[in-house]
Amino acid sequence: MSSSSVLIRPSRIQNFKNHDCIPSTYFIQTWGCQMNVEDSEQIGLYLNQIGFKPSKDVYSAQLIILNTCSVRKKPEDKAFSMLGELSIIKGRDQDRIIGVCGCMAQIRAEEIRKRAPLVDFVVGTAQISEISQIVENLLEKRTFYTSLNLPERKGSIVSDIPQRQVDRNAKLKTFVPIQYGCDKFCTYCIVPATRGRERSRPTVDIIDEIKKLADHGTKEVTLLGQTVNSYGKNLAEGRVPFSELLLKVAEISGIERIRYTSPYPRDFKTDLIEVIRDCPKVMEHVHMPLQAGNNTVLKRMRRLYTVESFKEIVDELRSTVPGVSITTDIIVGFPEETEEQFQDTLSMMDEIRFDGAFMFKYSPREGTPGAEMVQVDQKIKERRLDDLIHLQNQITLEKNREMIGKNIEILVEGPSPKILNSYQGYSREFKLVHFLAGRELTNQIINVQCEKAHPWGLEASLT
Ligand code: SAH
Ligand code: SF4
Ligand code: F3S
Repeated sequence: MSSSSVLIRPSRIQNFKNHDCIPSTYFIQTWGCQMNVEDSEQIGLYLNQIGFKPSKDVYSAQLIILNTCSVRKKPEDKAFSMLGELSIIKGRDQDRIIGVCGCMAQIRAEEIRKRAPLVDFVVGTAQISEISQIVENLLEKRTFYTSLNLPERKGSIVSDIPQRQVDRNAKLKTFVPIQYGCDKFCTYCIVPATRGRERSRPTVDIIDEIKKLADHGTKEVTLLGQTVNSYGKNLAEGRVPFSELLLKVAEISGIERIRYTSPYPRDFKTDLIEVIRDCPKVMEHVHMPLQAGNNTVLKRMRRLYTVESFKEIVDELRSTVPGVSITTDIIVGFPEETEEQFQDTLSMMDEIRFDGAFMFKYSPREGTPGAEMVQVDQKIKERRLDDLIHLQNQITLEKNREMIGKNIEILVEGPSPKILNSYQGYSREFKLVHFLAGRELTNQIINVQCEKAHPWGLEASLT
């Protein structure tokens, strides 16, 4: 028996027992990054086309889709745990349809089938647009369905861009993919295997989609790509540098704020830094993953920059764009990382003083070079992560304190769940801000005065 059986939570099973499924309803459980969140939205749009509506919870949904992530072991465990529960439900209620898509579906289709034989379909990251057809087929005839092709690179141009639904509901902030896949092959990372080779979306498609979004009320877009600033290579119509794309997006009226994630450090060049300085719609926030503060570790990770060149980019950014906020990702306990090398990461964090960081313990991913290297002991990884989080939390709070007394611009997203009669939004620097207000301000861009700093963000008052 698979280990998933021990992970089943009886309470959830009970809840399913108390609910009949409602025909033509769906529930999507999403793990992973913004790309997956965006994919789930796309899946919903495709399902709407065949008359499916979102269900109010997982228990009453006829169609349950798990949109999975494989970047670390934890999200994979969560998906297998839920699959274990759903297998039991499906065994009792054949009307339910269970599908698995996303990164884990792409690379573990066979294992998914073995561990959860009652799953109806497994669909890879490049086949999302097929889901509505698959569901229609399944409603007619119940046979297992799988679709997992990833586009291969033939020559330098990969024009195989996923089909998309671009007519979307009005949302204040919207993710827009501009690049798919990744060509970097960092030795710890599974993403090139799950998402395929790097492909840039044609500029006209991106601009058309964002124009539509602006017409429907979107004020802020976040452009998505695994190495978003290498956008534009391999385009059939010729290279369009990322900085140029930003300027084109900025011309769209109605779009007030432009963000992007994640840029790759080596390709963060002066043209991009100058666009951040000169274009008021491009936000003064850069999420630039460093991963480690030691050159030997960076080299073994196959990151194509050094500690020194990373610092140079940070220096240029800070001197060209005063007040820019910089956040990062760090992995501790990469194979063979010594205590001294980890201390180098701590020193670098102390020196650079990022505004915030996502920090992870290295998680070996089968099929990546890192998984074959000599692993660091789990306990050591845990201690290193604790040390790093402790240091960064302090720095984040100090960085937030530097904002006190400043006048900052925020896009108001709605009422604050933390503080009564308050609203919340993000500053240009991507700091979460709560502020008291006696009137409705949702969807507006306003200025507030920073008064108090917290580890999670800022409290402010109306100016
Ligand atoms: N494309 C982005 C990162 C995508 S994955 C980039 O290169 O910046 C998001 C983050 O997950 C990475 O930045 C890295 O810090 C972390 N990560 C990726 N693989 C990991 C692994 N095997 N173990 C732990 N963390 C990992
Ligand atoms: Fe993974 Fe590296 Fe590509 Fe980012 S750049 S997705 S970390 S392989
Ligand atoms: Fe996870 Fe895939 Fe994103 S592995 S982080 S969902 S690209």
